[in-house]
Amino acid sequence: MNPFSYGTVVRGDFFYDRKEEGERIVTTLSGGNNMVLLAPRRYGKTSLVFQVIEQLEAKGYTCIYFDFLPVYSLETFVSLYIGAIEKKQHNLGRLVQVITKVINSIRPKLTFDSSGKPEFGIEFTESSVSIQTLSEVLDLPEKLAQKGKKLIVIFDEFQEITKLNKVGFESLLRSKIQQQQQVNYLFLGSRTHLLSDMFNNKNRAFYNSASHMQLGTLPHEDTIAYLQAKFRSSGIQIGLHEALYLIGQTGDIPYYIQLLAAEIWQYMITSQTQVTTKIVDACAKQIVELKQDYYYELFDRQSVMQKQLLIALIHSGENIFSSAYSKRFRLSAASTTQKSILVLMDYGIIDKTDNTYFISDPFFKRFLQNYAS
Ligand SMILES: Nc1ncnc2c1ncn2[C@@H]1O[C@H](COP(=O)(O)OP(=O)(O)OP(=O)(O)O)[C@@H](O)[C@H]1O
Ligand SMILES: [Mg+2]
Repeated sequence: MNPFSYGTVVRGDFFYDRKEEGERIVTTLSGGNNMVLLAPRRYGKTSLVFQVIEQLEAKGYTCIYFDFLPVYSLETFVSLYIGAIEKKQHNLGRLVQVITKVINSIRPKLTFDSSGKPEFGIEFTESSVSIQTLSEVLDLPEKLAQKGKKLIVIFDEFQEITKLNKVGFESLLRSKIQQQQQVNYLFLGSRTHLLSDMFNNKNRAFYNSASHMQLGTLPHEDTIAYLQAKFRSSGIQIGLHEALYLIGQTGDIPYYIQLLAAEIWQYMITSQTQVTTKIVDACAKQIVELKQDYYYELFDRQSVMQKQLLIALIHSGENIFSSAYSKRFRLSAASTTQKSILVLMDYGIIDKTDNTYFISDPFFKRFLQNYAS
């Protein structure tokens, strides 16, 4: 079996490093504070948070993990949120009681299948979810928290809440969070510009409401040791230089390191035992070839300005609003660049760390390098 895993949350033997970050999150939340964890796409936020959940649960906390990505309406939010809460309830009878008492327009149902296994469900008694119902649902964790046993709610892809802002969801949730005594919140998400605006903009409800943490890349020494150990377990050797070369091809992004390593393993497993930079290159090329049609279409869909900017970003992502940058890459006014940047960030095509912009997918960048040459 391939010793490298990518695309899903990694656990156990597939997860390395992030000890200090994990400890800081655990300490902050167990100290009664809320926290926001920021990192570009595919840096390992969700995997880290699953480690944190294990640690918090070992300390006696109940952790409710909720992903905002599938939410597209208040109804979906309410049903999925109650579903996430239900997953962590041992006593479904009590859940039914609390919901009946706290939420007026939702009727909980507890049925038993033929083997006697309880099945929980809800029914809405109003045609569309009202603010009152939303408010009561947001109170549910606090009402469920048992004396002395605190709850932690984790909202993944939290920036997606903005889709529901027409009803003032953001400020309602903020006021609930402020009132609740038994519940602490961890927010995370991959669209860092949206998320940091939510927490850093004075005009937004969540301004200054949580301690911030920025997740960086994984330290090279640890990645090298991990790659060497994993390859070695299949009888494959990788030297320091080659491991660093591999990392270099992935823009240092945890997901792509695993993706490329998995591809190399697949390529070598039956015939070769020593990873060379040539093999790393061949595998990176293969990944680009497999995704060529998609990359072509993605690029084709962009406006002329966005295309020009993407080509410029292959070379450099620093000081992109300076006149020197515009001149070098023949871009128009900084205001146009700003607009294109926002669109590309919204699509998740580019990302930003500190003040440097970069193409999120290093293999798309490679595709563009070939395209532009
Ligand atoms: N600590 C780690 N150890 C090993 N691999 C990791 C680690 N963190 C991330 N990865 C790699 O990155 C991939 C993506 O991780 P994860 O889904 O946790 O990231 P994310 O930041 O939540 O991504 P997204 O932005 O897509 O939600 C994993 O499948 C794994 O290949
Ligand atoms: Mg994630």
